[in-house]
Amino acid sequence: MTSMGVIRAVRRRPHLWPYGLTALLPYLRKEAMTELLPYSPGLENVIATTTRISYLDVEHEQIVVRGYDLIELARKRPYLDVAYLLLYEKLPDADEAAAFRAALRQEASLPDEMYRLLSLFPKTTDPMDALRTGLSFLAGYEDPAFLADTSREANLRKGIRILAKAPIVAANAYRALQGQAFVKPDPALDFSENFLWMILGRRPDDQAVRVFDTILTCYIEHELPNSTFAARVIASTLSDIYAAVVGAVASLKGPLHGGANEAAIRMLLEIYEQGGAARAEAYVLDKLRRKERIMGFGHRVYMRRYDPRALLLRDFIPLLVDRRPEGRELYAIYQTVEAVMAREKGIHPNTDYPIGFLLYLMGVPIPLYTPIFLCARVAGLIAHVVEQHENNRLYRPRVLYEGPRGLSVP
Ligand SMILES: CC(C)(COP(=O)(O)OP(=O)(O)OC[C@H]1O[C@@H](n2cnc3c(N)ncnc32)[C@H](O)[C@@H]1OP(=O)(O)O)[C@@H](O)C(=O)NCCC(=O)NCCS
Repeated sequence: MTSMGVIRAVRRRPHLWPYGLTALLPYLRKEAMTELLPYSPGLENVIATTTRISYLDVEHEQIVVRGYDLIELARKRPYLDVAYLLLYEKLPDADEAAAFRAALRQEASLPDEMYRLLSLFPKTTDPMDALRTGLSFLAGYEDPAFLADTSREANLRKGIRILAKAPIVAANAYRALQGQAFVKPDPALDFSENFLWMILGRRPDDQAVRVFDTILTCYIEHELPNSTFAARVIASTLSDIYAAVVGAVASLKGPLHGGANEAAIRMLLEIYEQGGAARAEAYVLDKLRRKERIMGFGHRVYMRRYDPRALLLRDFIPLLVDRRPEGRELYAIYQTVEAVMAREKGIHPNTDYPIGFLLYLMGVPIPLYTPIFLCARVAGLIAHVVEQHENNRLYRPRVLYEGPRGLSVP
C-alpha cells in the first residue's frame, strides 16, 4: 500500500488516530499532512477550545454554567443574576446585583438615529436581519480605539451596552416592520419585564414575567453551538465584540439553530388548522415517512435524551394554557407530537419546543422568537468573546481537498 493508502485507511479508523497518525507524521511529505488530519463533518465530536464558561454534561444530563447546574440557576435566580455570573464568574450578592441592574439601566436607550434606521427597513425584512443590522450600526457609536480594545475591561463595558440595547432594538425593529409606534424602555421596569413591555406594548403580569425570565435563562448559554462558535471564530481575528455578536446573529437565524422555536409553533398551528389533536399522529408519521424534520426535536449533543431545559419549561405550559382560546387543543397536539416522536424515533424535544409554545401562549408575535433567543444569549456571547480574547489563538482549520489538480490554463 502507498503511504497515502495507509493514511486513508488509518483516517477511517478513528481509534487508531492517537497511535497510527502521530507515528506516521515524521515520514510524510508536507502536502500529505492534511490527508493525515482527522476529518469530522460538521466538526462533530471535535474539541474546538478549552473554556471555563459552560459544558453540556450529557452523561449526567446537566448543563454546567460556571460550575452550577443551569436548571437550578433558572429555578432559583433571575436571568440577570445568571448574566452576572457569566460575565464576572461569580453569583452576585444583593449589592452587586443592584449595581449590575443600575449599569444596565444606564445603557438602556438607543440613539435617535437608530429609531430612524429602524423605520427605513423594507417591511418584508426579517426581524433577525433588522437586529443584525441594528447591532452593527451601534458599533459606530463607540470610540474607534475603545471599539478595537480587546481587554477584558473594555469587552465587559461594551458587552453590557449590547446586553442592555439588544432587546430595545429587537422589539422596536419588529414594531417598525409592523408599522406600529415605538415603545421605548421604561426605566422603572426590570430587564425581563421591560423586554416584554416593549414587545407586547402593555404591562405584563407577574406570571408572564416569571415565565419569560426563565425562558431567557434557559437560552442564556449553552457551551459551543454554531452561533457561539461563529462569535469565537470572529473574535479570534481580534475583531471587536460587536462584530462577534453580529456574526452570532447571522448564525442563529438558521432554522437548524435558533429558528427552530418559530418553526415548532408554526408546526403546532399547522396541525391545529388541519384538524387538531386527532390529526397530530398522522401528521408526524407522514413527515417522518418523507424524511422531514420535526422542528423542536433532536439535538446534536443530547440527541436521544431529553434536553433538561425542555423538561423544566414544559411544567409552565399548564399555567399559561388558558391564555389563548386554542391553547388546550394546541397542548393536546403538543403532547401527541412528543409521544409519537418518542415512540417512532426515540427523539425528545429540545428547549425550542416548549419555548415556542410558551411565547405563543403569552401573546408574543412569532417572528420575535429567534430575536428573543439572541438577546438572551448575548450574556453568554460576551463571556465567550472575553475568554477568546484573553487566551487567543486564531481559528484556521484545513480542508480535505477533493477537486482537480494540475489543470493547465488554456
Ligand atoms: C438539531 C439537529 C440539526 C441535530 O441533527 P444532527 O446532529 O445533524 O443529527 P442527524 O441529522 O445526523 O440525525 C440523526 C438521526 O435522527 C433523526 N432526527 C434528528 N432530528 C430529527 C428531527 N427533528 N425530526 C426527525 N428526525 C430527526 C435523523 O433523521 C436521523 O435519523 P436516521 O438515523 O434514522 O437517519 C436535528 O436534530 C434537527 O434538525 N432538529 C430539528 C431542528 C431543531 O429543532 N433545531 C434546534 C436545535 S437546539
